[in-house]
Amino acid sequence: MARTAQARDSASFLDQLDDRSVAVVLGTRPEMVKMSGMVRLLGAKAAIVHTGQHYSNDLSDVFFDELELPEPAHRLQIGGASRSDQIRSAISALSRILAEEPFEVVVVQGDTNTTLAGAVAANALDLPLVHVEAGLRSFDRRMPEEHNRVVADHLADLLLAPTEDAKRNLTNEAIAPHRVRVTGNTVVEALTRYQPDSVERKKLLTDLGIDTSFVLATFHRPENVDDGPTLARIIDQLGRVEAPVVLPMHPRTRNEMEAMEVDLPENLSILEPLGYVDFLALEAECDVLISDSGGVQEESSIVKRPVVVVRRSTERPEVVGTFARLTTPGPHVADIANEWLADIDAVHANLATIPSPYGDDTAPAASVEAIATLITSS
Ligand code: UD1
Ligand code: UDP
Repeated sequence: MARTAQARDSASFLDQLDDRSVAVVLGTRPEMVKMSGMVRLLGAKAAIVHTGQHYSNDLSDVFFDELELPEPAHRLQIGGASRSDQIRSAISALSRILAEEPFEVVVVQGDTNTTLAGAVAANALDLPLVHVEAGLRSFDRRMPEEHNRVVADHLADLLLAPTEDAKRNLTNEAIAPHRVRVTGNTVVEALTRYQPDSVERKKLLTDLGIDTSFVLATFHRPENVDDGPTLARIIDQLGRVEAPVVLPMHPRTRNEMEAMEVDLPENLSILEPLGYVDFLALEAECDVLISDSGGVQEESSIVKRPVVVVRRSTERPEVVGTFARLTTPGPHVADIANEWLADIDAVHANLATIPSPYGDDTAPAASVEAIATLITSS
């Protein structure tokens, strides 16, 4: 694993890594999006280990195709199980794979069960661990993601924080500054690369039969969708929005919808989950976003669209008060959206002047360079 720093030329850091020396452990849609730029830059140096946490075609294979990700070197099947079963089976299988392969470093991203399992398995095998999108904190211990990200951060040898706010959270937890780099968020590069142009976006809207003025919604958080009455309240609120609402539905949400009786409002169109390119087209063309997604909060600041964040808490405070307003499922959801819709051109014009707090499209390159430096100096 260890090589001497002197033997390496920092300008050609990638040349000095062995093929398949970087294990990229991922398993869900947002991890595929946010690791795509790094995987492209790493090329043959990377080997993807897909835990199979997301396994449906429209949450996994479509993303591999669209994001031009290479075939995983290993595929596990942890999807569809309880959190504890996912973590248990992923740690077990990952430990075996990481022990068999000559990986020099393990990279995990975000805050999923896959992230936690990858971090623990790397740590148990004494492999250097990199955590991409480190330092986010909702300070909400009811969310499994908060526990996943805290564990990954504390185990990581290299923490790639998207913002100074995230770095501050790590400093406050006494994580040594030399372990942390601020890189920006890799989602900026992914969105910039795959965002279709305006002609293609308009064509897609026509193909999908979507009006030029619409609201785009996504929901998948357990706090919103695992409880029938809460989900019914959200659907009711979407019905009170004074515009057509398009909702590409996560399978978790669809499962709950199928188990309950709810009259769908006339302005609501439910779609299957969209591929990344189509979703980005709708994000850029919509008037307003309503979502509980982490990635959508970040992307709102890049496409310059306002987002009603329907959550008890957020780990992305950087966009609150500018691109985002936070509210729990209740009357404020439609009220906020309708307030924006009433003067939407002015809202868009104002947001167009505000830079994204997540940086520019250089985050994957900065991340890969930091990873190479970690390996070459260890
Ligand atoms: C997971 C992450 C969440 C992330 C989200 C991205 C954790 C704790 N949660 O939530 O942080 O925001 O991914 O979308 O890691 N299902 C399918 N097909 C799939 C995947 C899931 O039908 O490909 C259904 C299954 O019924 C499954 C349920 O969705 O039990 C939940 O899936 P799971 O991966 O456990 O959590 P997500 O809600 O997707
Ligand atoms: N996304 C997508 N299709 C959809 C909904 C979301 O491609 O139908 C993308 C979105 O652009 C973002 C990512 O999926 O990049 C966010 O994933 P999700 O909301 O599932 O997870 P989170 O970000 O909340 O962890």
